[in-house]
Amino acid sequence: MPFPHDRPRRLRANAAMRRLVAETRLDPADLVLPLFVKEGASEPTPIASMPGVVQHSPAGLVAAVREAVDLGLGGVMLFGIPALRDARGTGATDPDGVLNRAIGEVRAEVGDGLVVMADLCLDEFTDHGHCGLLDAAGEVDNDATLARYQEMAVAQAAAGAHVLGLSGMMDGQVGAVRDALDAAGYTGTAILAYAAKYASAFYGPFRDAVESPLTGNRRAYQMDPANRREAARETELDLFEGADIVMVKPAMAYLDVLADVAAISPVPVAAYQVSGEFAMIEAAAANGWIDRRAAITESVLSIKRAGADIVLTYAAVELARWLLEEHAVGSAG
Ligand code: PBG
Repeated sequence: MPFPHDRPRRLRANAAMRRLVAETRLDPADLVLPLFVKEGASEPTPIASMPGVVQHSPAGLVAAVREAVDLGLGGVMLFGIPALRDARGTGATDPDGVLNRAIGEVRAEVGDGLVVMADLCLDEFTDHGHCGLLDAAGEVDNDATLARYQEMAVAQAAAGAHVLGLSGMMDGQVGAVRDALDAAGYTGTAILAYAAKYASAFYGPFRDAVESPLTGNRRAYQMDPANRREAARETELDLFEGADIVMVKPAMAYLDVLADVAAISPVPVAAYQVSGEFAMIEAAAANGWIDRRAAITESVLSIKRAGADIVLTYAAVELARWLLEEHAVGSAG
């Protein structure tokens, strides 16, 4: 018994004390809101498995990003839902494609008011729903896909994206995209690498959100949930290839991986609280089984505590409102 009189409860006695000694704080500036924009839509379409989240029309998207700026969010991550899909994901590289147009419209509205990120992956644009091009055997062809990612990167950078979110898990994608951006003169466009992205069951509602035609799974390119050490390997590769930010995804079921990545990363670390994590909280709260606000706050706090500097969450707007509210109460009283 080296410290017989130690009483940790002293520091938990009241809200002021707890606030003073809190090791982790939430700030709207650390939050990134994922947003969906649907080509040709004129009004928002709710996503059944993601209560409160919608597929925006292009005009609605711009308004949603304006709201995010006003709340002080760190950024937005844009996903496009094209009207037409094909084997090569043509819409991804078309300057008039839904995502590229949206990037331009959002930048025109908010400038540098927050960080505009775009999903760089082919799955929303291919008719088979895979993240890359398929070879004759129906397998995802890594290197042929890299060439498409390079074209997509240049299109997104030209449209004005600050950060490209490389979510496809192709080997060599960060280096390939960095080379293409630099060659086209976009040396200032940053890369957020989904370094450790797992083949997760928690992406289910997202696939509803983007109307994914995928029938199989992504286990031949996304990571095996069984593997922890491999996340360090993926992270090191992405850092070597030039990643500016590295990400772990999903978040809550992978906090061990997140802590590992945070321990080795010299660049900022992001984590994505994905659609299924959000849907679980919403479903339990709708049943009256958990306190929604407390559960959302605790879950995002836990993700930061595990090592994330940046958290992508569908709850970003509400959470920012709560934080601003608490801050106002805190400074008044
Ligand atoms: C791929 C991508 C996915 C998500 C983000 N980017 C889907 C997938 O890998 O199947 C999932 C995000 C979520 O579930 O919220 N473009």
